[in-house]
Amino acid sequence: LKPFIRVAVTGAAGQICYSLLANICKGEMFGADQPVVLHLLDITPALGALRGVTLELEDCSFPLLVDFVVTDKPAEAFADVDVAILVGAMPRREGMVRADLLKANAGIFKAQGAALAAHAKPSVRVLVVGNPANTNALIALTTGSSLPKSAFTALTFLDHNRLKAQVACKLGVAVADVRNTFIWGNHSKTQYPDVSHGTVTNADGSLSRVMDLAESAWARDELVTTVQTRGAAVIKARKLSSAMSAAKAITDHMRTWWFGTEPDDIVSMAIYSDGTHYGVAEGIIFSFPVTIDAATGDINVVDGLDIDAFSQSMLDKTQAELIDEREAALAFLAESNL
Ligand code: NAI
Repeated sequence: LKPFIRVAVTGAAGQICYSLLANICKGEMFGADQPVVLHLLDITPALGALRGVTLELEDCSFPLLVDFVVTDKPAEAFADVDVAILVGAMPRREGMVRADLLKANAGIFKAQGAALAAHAKPSVRVLVVGNPANTNALIALTTGSSLPKSAFTALTFLDHNRLKAQVACKLGVAVADVRNTFIWGNHSKTQYPDVSHGTVTNADGSLSRVMDLAESAWARDELVTTVQTRGAAVIKARKLSSAMSAAKAITDHMRTWWFGTEPDDIVSMAIYSDGTHYGVAEGIIFSFPVTIDAATGDINVVDGLDIDAFSQSMLDKTQAELIDEREAALAFLAESNL
């Protein structure tokens, strides 16, 4: 076995983490030969429930789980960690408008970004899941500015997986045979699930274009809406938000970042936009098609894809929303008490 790594998980008493922690301890994220010490953070009132989760972690008798730390203090949660998965966030309550949600979360992620910079390993890799995920990641990156911007990502892998599954279902093929479909922009209803470059691998190894197999009205309308509103459909049916699929997507995101993308595969990750890709403004956390270098862990945007007029209008819309969110969140941060 390798030497252990320290993995911080916030919102550890919540429903996503109930699935996620088992995925980590089973080796699905960092490999079956990688022991972990879990640093579990939640707010003080949730520590009782979190104790229940740790009783179960013990009962699972996971060979890879070396130890765990339970805390309500970000400084302790992030001490010397290699990876930080920020799931905990203030949920939207009845009567809350989006500005209230942004403000509450700006405060949380401001503190956590600063604590990461002060206490985590300089090589830490951060994944923000708690919503609004892209803008929360931007706040953490802003206050954690002694860490490289490339250390911060936000989750759009759930949308990526949803898109791939919808295409596979529509075309009657296996998900593993669907390639080059990805999510642009915000993890919100303005995201752009893009199949215009998508391919399906046929039984003889040849490739067919998704756009040659499906009507473009479906690809631009029904499919886009289905993926954009899938989270709401799960809430409506389950009376709870996506948890198993979110945990799977978090596992996919971190595993891909840790081990690199498969040859010929492209995935979706929300990363800091440096203003040099597809005309997307600098200074927002934007989901791009990316590949990951297995040796360095570098996340590289796939450049040079043709963007048609429809795609461009979708990119513009999701970018405008992210800029609005950034302005609102930074305005809250500028208020002295945040
Ligand atoms: P949950 O409500 O079951 O659990 C959230 C946990 O976070 C709770 O235990 C809560 O006490 C904790 N928490 C709240 N404030 C915290 C803080 N300041 N520090 C540490 N912990 C804190 O929610 P669930 O279902 O686990 O979802 C968590 C978040 O993930 C939500 O914001 C949700 O909207 C988001 N989400 C994001 C997805 C994405 O694709 N980016 C997909 C699904 C959910």
